[in-house]
Amino acid sequence: MSEGVQTNTIQQGKVVAVCSAKGGIGKTLISVNLAVSLIKKNLNVCLIDGDFQFGDVSVAMDLTPTYTIRDIIEEIEDLESNTVTNFLTRHSSGVSVLAAPERPEYADLVVSEKVITIINKLRDNFDYIIVDCDAGIQGTTLEMMEIADEILVITNLEMTALKNTKLMLETLGKLEFREKSQLIINRYTMESLIKAEDVPKMLGEEKVISIPNNFKLASQSLNLGIPFVISQGKSDLAKAVFKMTESLVSKNGIVERKKENQSLLKKLFPSPR
Ligand SMILES: Nc1ncnc2c1ncn2[C@@H]1O[C@H](COP(=O)(O)OP(=O)(O)OP(=O)(O)O)[C@@H](O)[C@H]1O
Ligand SMILES: [Mg+2]
Repeated sequence: MSEGVQTNTIQQGKVVAVCSAKGGIGKTLISVNLAVSLIKKNLNVCLIDGDFQFGDVSVAMDLTPTYTIRDIIEEIEDLESNTVTNFLTRHSSGVSVLAAPERPEYADLVVSEKVITIINKLRDNFDYIIVDCDAGIQGTTLEMMEIADEILVITNLEMTALKNTKLMLETLGKLEFREKSQLIINRYTMESLIKAEDVPKMLGEEKVISIPNNFKLASQSLNLGIPFVISQGKSDLAKAVFKMTESLVSKNGIVERKKENQSLLKKLFPSPR
């Protein structure tokens, strides 16, 4: 593992779950560019495509993976931490990608328990493990949120996105995940009836990170498979992602694996007194 931020020691890689209540909100764009941006800080980064049905990290990074998470799942029990990395696909930037299965029908083979085992093994090899999660809070995404050190909750300024993000944040509160959640307003400069500056109050969230609206560059980045932090490092989007990366890294502390394992269902539905 690299030394990371000089003043802190990272014992175990940090897991960052990139989530949203709704789909199509910018999770993949942000995950990919965040991963590359962390590489630029000389950190070792693994990016997991957590959308096991229709994952598109490989397209967004123009990669043709030899292996996917499905291949690791089949062998995980026999794998040592250092051999898990054999299943990753290296991007030219240095990001190691764990690709989603090649077909949606294979998603059911990716069981949460094994995914968590894989992530814990990856923690030994990387400073950061970024997970581009499925939209919503269910199944493996919920488990990812639980083990994550940081949850990035992405929204935009559309009413439906804000309504669902509010519900999602409330649920994260019940699960006691709110402390480790960071709200990100993507496309905050988009034309909208709701003003970006009103969002923190609406969602009861003071600390907000904003990413501007730049559809031309965002779609170019995703469609050409070249992250904008590489191709357009001086753009408004890249500057916002670098700033977000800075804030993420500055929170670094010594990370240890969580031991406590109270049932998530119990947290959501506490038994009546
Ligand atoms: N900051 C932005 N400015 C302009 N357009 C953006 C921005 N972020 C994302 N987009 C656009 O929004 C669309 C969805 O982005 P992306 O695929 O990253 O979302 P997603 O949350 O990963 O979607 P899914 O839930 O389908 O996985 C893309 O067309 C992308 O170009
Ligand atoms: Mg996506």
